[in-house]
Amino acid sequence: MSGDSMEKLLEIENVTKSYAGVQVLKNVNITLSMGEVLCFVGENGAGKSTLIKIIAGDIQASGGVVRYFGKEYENTSPKQIIDMGVSTIYQDIDLVDNLTVSDNVFLGCEMRNKAGFINTKEQEKKTDSLIEKLHLNEIKGSDMLTELSTAQKQCVQIVKALHNNAKILILDEPTASLGDKEKKSLLALVKELTSQGIGIIYISHFIDELFEIGDTFLILKDGEQVTVRRKEDTTPDQIIHDMIGRDASNFYKREYFEIGKRVLKIEHYDNRKTVQDVTLEIKSGEVFGLGGLIGAGRTELARMIYGLDKKKKGHLYIDAKEITPKAPKDALNKGIFMISEDRKGEGLLMARSVKENIMITHNEKHEIINLKKEKEITDKNISAYRVKTVDRDTLISNLSGGNQQKTIIARCTIDDGEVYIFDEPTKGVDIGAKEEIYEHILNLAKKDKFVILISSDMPELLSMSDRIGVMCSGKLVEVVNSQETSEDKLMKKYLGY
Ligand SMILES: Nc1ncnc2c1ncn2[C@@H]1O[C@H](COP(=O)(O)OP(=O)(O)OP(=O)(O)O)[C@@H](O)[C@H]1O
Ligand SMILES: [Mg+2]
Repeated sequence: MSGDSMEKLLEIENVTKSYAGVQVLKNVNITLSMGEVLCFVGENGAGKSTLIKIIAGDIQASGGVVRYFGKEYENTSPKQIIDMGVSTIYQDIDLVDNLTVSDNVFLGCEMRNKAGFINTKEQEKKTDSLIEKLHLNEIKGSDMLTELSTAQKQCVQIVKALHNNAKILILDEPTASLGDKEKKSLLALVKELTSQGIGIIYISHFIDELFEIGDTFLILKDGEQVTVRRKEDTTPDQIIHDMIGRDASNFYKREYFEIGKRVLKIEHYDNRKTVQDVTLEIKSGEVFGLGGLIGAGRTELARMIYGLDKKKKGHLYIDAKEITPKAPKDALNKGIFMISEDRKGEGLLMARSVKENIMITHNEKHEIINLKKEKEITDKNISAYRVKTVDRDTLISNLSGGNQQKTIIARCTIDDGEVYIFDEPTKGVDIGAKEEIYEHILNLAKKDKFVILISSDMPELLSMSDRIGVMCSGKLVEVVNSQETSEDKLMKKYLGY
């Protein structure tokens, strides 16, 4: 074997994929070499996850060849592909919460002693040595998974993958749920792996991140391979242009308008745990950002306001009128909407159509459903949010991640309300669609609504908010004017300096 072909971990030749006659991938050609970070870039629905699923053996390509380590295989199962050294980490964490880290790592391939019992000590030792090798010193094999942060769980998934002796590691939007600090450590870990010769396939909608770790970019649009670019020969602007077919800035410039006179008062919200005595006032027509690190209590506060989680104390007023919701249903009746960060867990009905997913809250409020109007509203929203779907009756689970997210946002902006809480609304959304979601959010503010925006994406939080409330360990520590602060200053406040 020549040196060149030894280096090639993966060769994808003329791969295509169709679902019921709809072609979602067309003639993709790309290779992955040892130590290389290959990024798949493209808008929501471009075909990135589909290509990954083909490589991982979860679905079969309709045509073309995938060659692993120089060899072609036929009808390989996902398990065989993992055993060959190809590990895939999907965006949603796929671990068992009430087991330890090492139990998770060894799940399905446990080490047993002569009597057939699981050798926990040995498993923990092996896990710890892997953790040490990856410099993940804050985690221990004996830790319960429930004690770990999202970022740490993400790292455990990597430990598990490497324990399977992965030579190719595939990561589908691994940083979508992470804050800045966690993102940095994950990127450092990826770099560390490439220095050990592991080839990485990486998907992310964060262009900066792609430029930080990527070597090669495969740009997909509507399932077609637009081009392949090497980092040293390209720029972020060029990639964005390849991807969406027009120029778009990496930083969004919002329109400012006059702020209204009505006041939303959040008073003494407290659960004696993750949220402690938060009081603040928001004006109508204002986009009020909530910033902080993962675990600062932002989502927990939002859930309490919405009536989803129990609280010890807390009242909500618009001007002098109390509107504290008792439960989400009560919140909806009072015109309070929350777009949840956990779209799979709380938001989407995976076995239902796009139409049902868009219409559900509206239909809950109206006893009589007007079928014609339902179709009209659905189609209007599909086009307003550019949801990529065959039609309104397509199952939501057949949509790409970002298009599912757009559907949830559409759902919450159909009915006229008063208070809109967006928790990480652009998680997994491509750079072009982000701008569209921003427009929809700003339109609500323009209509004199109350808008709360929780975001871990600092440029987004800074460019969208009028003011930002900083939370740290469950407390609201400061409220700042977005125009008068910067990423550096905010980060210091997040960390409590
Ligand atoms: N099981 C399926 N049946 C029908 N169509 C599907 C199925 N799975 C995916 N698709 C379609 O294939 C296209 C590509 O989807 P894919 O999930 O690969 O997009 P993506 O690039 O990963 O997007 P995102 O950035 O939103 O995650 C989409 O239009 C999607 O609706
Ligand atoms: Mg995807």
